[in-house]
Amino acid sequence: MDPALAMSPRDALVLCGARKGMVQRPLRERLPFQARIFDALNNKPDGTKMKSRKLVYEGKAKILYEGPEPGTLIQYFKDDTTAFDAKKKAVLEGKGVLNNRICEYLMTQLTGIGVPNHFMRRLNMREQLIREVEIIPLEVVVRNVSAGSFATRLGVEEGTTLPRSIIEFFLKDDKLHDPMVSEEHITAFGWATPQELDDMTALAIRINDFLSGLFLGVGIRLVDFKIEFGRLWEGEMMRVILADEISPDSMRLWDLRTNEKLDKDRFRRDLGGVTEAYSEVARRLGILTEVHNPERKGPVLVK
Ligand SMILES: Nc1ncnc2c1ncn2[C@@H]1O[C@H](COP(=O)(O)OP(=O)(O)OP(=O)(O)O)[C@@H](O)[C@H]1O
Ligand SMILES: [Mg+2]
Repeated sequence: MDPALAMSPRDALVLCGARKGMVQRPLRERLPFQARIFDALNNKPDGTKMKSRKLVYEGKAKILYEGPEPGTLIQYFKDDTTAFDAKKKAVLEGKGVLNNRICEYLMTQLTGIGVPNHFMRRLNMREQLIREVEIIPLEVVVRNVSAGSFATRLGVEEGTTLPRSIIEFFLKDDKLHDPMVSEEHITAFGWATPQELDDMTALAIRINDFLSGLFLGVGIRLVDFKIEFGRLWEGEMMRVILADEISPDSMRLWDLRTNEKLDKDRFRRDLGGVTEAYSEVARRLGILTEVHNPERKGPVLVK
């Protein structure tokens, strides 16, 4: 089987919001729809397996494959997790499934308010169909509350609400450790044009306003997030659209009441419970429903 399409029973359990030790009904009974998609994607009508697809790029957290139509790609979410320039690594079982779902949800909501993005549709537990773009080599970070490198760099105590939302740009260059760059650098070196910078900034502000409200509604503070943009060519026309992912890997999310971290900082700071925190985010967004057990009819007398 093409490993890119593999859906382990564990993946399915993660999606159901299942917890350790729960008695589970067979996978097929619980997920007839997903199971059918799984079969359709892995088997040809004559019962033979599909041949593997062309790999376009393998990154630290995702893999891109050639899509079914020109101008499309398949984005596969891995369980691999890295931090600190990939010096710290781990495989967190089920993380890719959760990120695929959370990303699908957020991109769809953003489409709903007219933020153009690369998401087309989710294909299965770990994959989504996206529009291929020419990635602008910048990481756009929007911050509402001081945290992480910002807190260290400027000596602003972590947790301080910023006087206003602040946008920062970082050059996507692993060898240079993604240095922070100014608008001057960006336009002087042609990484983006002034028009593209304006477009990215306007979109970043809208995304921040919308996501801040959305998370606030489910008791979560959107502390900061990182996004990437790409150029989408339509004939002679070019538009800047949101690409890559939005997930707890790329956002800082704190519980509004307790300030508990519900994002990748749990991995960076060895706090444990990383995928549990990601499932909590998904659960609050209404993506994961609690597993209910219709067979449970109260205590059963054991004779
Ligand atoms: N719609 C898209 N079209 C083309 N490339 C994309 C699109 N969306 C995301 N990408 C790119 O796909 C890759 C996703 O993989 P991943 O995020 O794992 O990479 P990474 O290890 O973080 O490396 P990078 O420094 O390139 O982001 C990234 O390089 C991202 O820029
Ligand atoms: Mg990345």
